[in-house]
Amino acid sequence: MRKTKIKELLLSDREKSAVQIRGWVRTRRDSKSFSFVEINDGSCLSGIQVIAEDHLDNYEEIRRLTTGSAVAVTGGLRPSPGKGQKWEVLASRIHIYQIAPDAYPLQKKRHTDEFLRTIGHLRPRTNKYGAVFRIRSEAAHEIHRFFQERNFVYVHTPILTGSDCEGAGELFRVTTMEPGNENQAGNDTADVYARDFFGRKTFLTVSGQLEAEMFALAMGDVYTFGPTFRAENSNTSRHASEFWMVEPEMAFCDLTENMDFSEEFVRHLILHVMRRCEDDIGLFARFVDTSLIETLNTIVEKPFVRIAYNEAIDMLQKSGTDFNYPVSLGKDLQTEHERYLAETVFRQPVIVYDYPRQIKPFYMRLNDDEKTVAAMDIIVPRIGEIIGGSQREERADMLEMRMAETNLDASQYWWYMDSRRYGSVPHSGFGMGFERFIMLATGVANIRDVIPFPRTPGNIEF
Ligand code: 4AD
Ligand code: MG
Repeated sequence: MRKTKIKELLLSDREKSAVQIRGWVRTRRDSKSFSFVEINDGSCLSGIQVIAEDHLDNYEEIRRLTTGSAVAVTGGLRPSPGKGQKWEVLASRIHIYQIAPDAYPLQKKRHTDEFLRTIGHLRPRTNKYGAVFRIRSEAAHEIHRFFQERNFVYVHTPILTGSDCEGAGELFRVTTMEPGNENQAGNDTADVYARDFFGRKTFLTVSGQLEAEMFALAMGDVYTFGPTFRAENSNTSRHASEFWMVEPEMAFCDLTENMDFSEEFVRHLILHVMRRCEDDIGLFARFVDTSLIETLNTIVEKPFVRIAYNEAIDMLQKSGTDFNYPVSLGKDLQTEHERYLAETVFRQPVIVYDYPRQIKPFYMRLNDDEKTVAAMDIIVPRIGEIIGGSQREERADMLEMRMAETNLDASQYWWYMDSRRYGSVPHSGFGMGFERFIMLATGVANIRDVIPFPRTPGNIEF
C-alpha cells in the first residue's frame, strides 16, 4: 500500500477506509483495552493519533513502543472525538521497524538550543527544528518561483573562483597540495600557486555577483542562489562560514529601482511563509519570539524607511546612546548601530544608502559627490543587515580608478573590465543572506539554528 503523508491526511475532507502512514512515535499512553500512539512523519508540525486495540496480533510489542520508535500504521481514517484534532487512525496493523532504546536523547521534553547543537544529527526530529527546516524549504522554493515568474534567468555561478568579489580577504583557499610541500621548490610563492591544481591561487566563492553581472549584461535579469563561504573569524550569532545567498542582478536598473525591488522581494517572501507555513510560524510566535507576528505584519504592511548613510550617522550621534563601537562619519555601521536604528528609532526595516566610498568594494558606482557610492543595505530589527546591494560602476575608467584605489590587480579582472567596454549599461543587484532571512521569518536568534549543519570557526562536526 502507498504511504500517505500526515500533512495530507489532516487536510482530508472525508473518512478513508484504508490508509498507511509511516513515521516515528512521539508518545504512547495505554488504556484498558487499547493504546494511543502519536505518530509524526516530519511532513508537518502535528502528528496524528493512532488507536491500537488489544486484538492486534503484535499488541504486546506495540505496548513496548517508545519515543523515537519507527512504525508503519495501516488503518482507517476517522473523525477523532479528542479535542484539538480532527482525525485519527484506527489501526488494523502496525508494523514495527525498530523500537528505540530508553537512551534515545530526544525524550519528549524541552531541550535547550545549546544541547541540541551537540546532537545536530538528531535535532531535525524535534518540533522546533522540523518547523525551521520546513519553512526554509518553502522559502527556497518560493525564491525560485518569485524570480521565474518575473522572467529572471537562474544562473549557476561557480563555487571555485580565482577572484575576491568583496575584497575583504575572507577567502578559504582551495588547494590539492599537501601541507608542508608548498615550499619544496624554494620560497617563491608565485611559483607555488603555479604548481597548484588550477595553476593559480584558488578560493571558495564569497559571492556569485561578478559572474552574475556577466550574465545580466547578456540576459537582462538573472539571479543566483547557492552556498557562499567566508573565513570571517568572528563568532557571532549572525555569521556562518558557509551560508546561502540569493543574488539577483538586473541590467538597466539604478539604485532606486534596486531598493524598490529588494523591498518587494522581502515583503513577498514574508507574506508567503506566513500564509503557507501558518502552523510552523505559530510555534515560533508562541515559544521563541512572542512579538514575531507583529514584526512580520509590520514588514508586510509598512513601506521600509529609507535614509542616507549621513543621516543615519547623524541620528546615531544625536541619540546620546553609549555604543561599544564609536559612531563616526566615514566608518562602517556596526551591528549594534544597525539594530539601534531598526529596533529603537524606527521599529521596522530600514534601508540605508549612499555609503562612504572608502568602506565599500570596488564595484559600487561612485556618486556625483565623489565621496559616496550607490550602495544600500536593508537592516531589520533583532538581526541588523539582511541584504547588501548596490548599483554597479558601469564606467570603465571609473572602475579602473576604483580598482587601483582598493589595491586590486586590474589585470586579473580583465574579463570583468571587458563587460564595461562592450555595451555597458547601468545595472544593479543585491545579495540576501538566506539564513538571516530565516532568522527574520522565525524569530530564531542564532544562525546556527536555521542551517542544517552549521559551519562556524572551530566547528565542523556532522
Ligand atoms: O553584504 P554582502 O557582503 O554583499 C555581497 O556579497 C554582494 N556581492 C551581494 C550582491 O550585491 N550581489 O553579503 C550579502 C548578504 C549580507 O547582507 C548578509 O545577509 C549575508 O549576505 N552574509 C552572511 N550571512 C551569514 N554569514 C555570514 N558570514 C555572512 N556574510 C554576509
Ligand atoms: Mg554587506
